[in-house]
Amino acid sequence: MEKDIKIDFDRMMTVGEVAKRSGVAVSTLHFYESKGLIKSIRTNGNQRRFPAIVLRYIGIIKVAQKVGISLEEIKSALSVYPIGSKLTAEQWSELSSRWRKDLDERIQKLTRLRDEMDWCIGCGCLSLKQCPLRNPEDVLGREGSGPRILERTEQSDAI
Ligand code: FES
Repeated sequence: MEKDIKIDFDRMMTVGEVAKRSGVAVSTLHFYESKGLIKSIRTNGNQRRFPAIVLRYIGIIKVAQKVGISLEEIKSALSVYPIGSKLTAEQWSELSSRWRKDLDERIQKLTRLRDEMDWCIGCGCLSLKQCPLRNPEDVLGREGSGPRILERTEQSDAI
């Protein structure tokens, strides 16, 4: 037998209220919803209503975006939890731990690129033989496709 669940729309927020409280534009909220990052319930008059927990989801989305996590990655990470989950401090800790490894790898790649760029500053030669940011004789192309310089690690360089 199906449970008769009554939704108290008076306790829910309109998209305008969510925008005001979160500081995120209505158009952005619609975009997040279209991407499945947040969810609303429709009233009988087909108007969107959001539960208060949506503010926590928006907070997580904004923080994650600020550190460079893509919306797809955010959606994937949030999908682990049941719809409407309260997203406790513990769950946020799990999410941030998942993203830390990815961020560490990105920082490592960018640091390496910056260091190689240091060599080039003030030079301007863009020499195929000397410049660490160039690809001499397409050697890297033989290793495979993609951004080979960015994907190099300290270990692969030592070989
Ligand atoms: S531009 Fe000369 S070493 Fe990179």
